[in-house]
Amino acid sequence: MLFEQIATGGCRSYLIGCAETCAAAVIDPEASQLDRYLALAARDGLRIRYIIDTHTHADHFSGSKQLARKVNAPVVMHRETTAPMVDMRVDDGEMVIVGKLRLQVMHTPGHTRDSMCLQVEDRVFTGDTLLIGGTGRTDLPTGDSDALYDSLFNKLLRLDAATLVFPAHEYKGRDHSTIGDELASNPRLQAPGREAFVALMANLNLAMPTHITEALRTNLSGGKTVAQMLAEAAAAVPFMSMAQLRTRVEAKDPMLVVLDVREREAGMAGHIPGAKLLPRGQLELRVNEELPDPTRHIVACCEFGRISTLAAATLREMGFQRAVALDGGMKAWREAGFPLEGAEGR
Ligand SMILES: [Fe+2]
Repeated sequence: MLFEQIATGGCRSYLIGCAETCAAAVIDPEASQLDRYLALAARDGLRIRYIIDTHTHADHFSGSKQLARKVNAPVVMHRETTAPMVDMRVDDGEMVIVGKLRLQVMHTPGHTRDSMCLQVEDRVFTGDTLLIGGTGRTDLPTGDSDALYDSLFNKLLRLDAATLVFPAHEYKGRDHSTIGDELASNPRLQAPGREAFVALMANLNLAMPTHITEALRTNLSGGKTVAQMLAEAAAAVPFMSMAQLRTRVEAKDPMLVVLDVREREAGMAGHIPGAKLLPRGQLELRVNEELPDPTRHIVACCEFGRISTLAAATLREMGFQRAVALDGGMKAWREAGFPLEGAEGR
């Protein structure tokens, strides 16, 4: 079995492959690592056949849908999931066959209702059901500590003690553990019985994960994150440095249009000399009057450089072939002491 563990902060995802047949599966892909999975698979001559999420993640952005599109392979999840972009729903006791590898599906609700573990050869991918020295939390949507108790003690922990444990999260840099080690030393598994375990889980007082709203929205719909929207826009436009723009503004470049896409009030309070003020929200509807010459060299700017990137991408899409975004924003422009016009600049 070819095996790669990919760490993204505290998240762990996996590429497993069958050397004989070149088939592979990616488990719990993270949205920012898609190119890495493709590169690792290509390096080993593997073709990704399945993309598997062990559960609906509430704390990071699943890359399943995007990866599935890139490699034209199905997204696999437990049948309890409500995510609509799942192509193959599986259930307890079934198998996903990856070349000569047989991934056994074990439904382990508790962290979420759709949680599953996948056992193959000497190892088990435990998702967030069992972590090294911990377990998944049960206080997020569809979490259930009583169910987690059963999933752990009546199912997962009955695997052979030597089975290697590869979780979906690990925060201390360890790459795996074993069922035996966890039974012996995982503090959450030492609770004497179901009631004590449920009480322990009820009193963890964990903070909500950051980005939970965005993670659940995107993971349950296959929609894009804000970072993805920005990355796609940034990939479609060139940028201009603040120093370069300053030089061009001072040289009164006749082809240049500095387009300030902040709200009118912010623009009026101080803008780059000669800038045209056109809020991002009105951009598409007002370009015909405000920007009649599509051959002008438009440099979009905003407060931090994000909205201007989206605006420049929109302009390019609309046929303004020389639209670019400022590498930076008005905050940095002011802090650099660059020239301003408007209330502050007078
Ligand atoms: Fe999770």
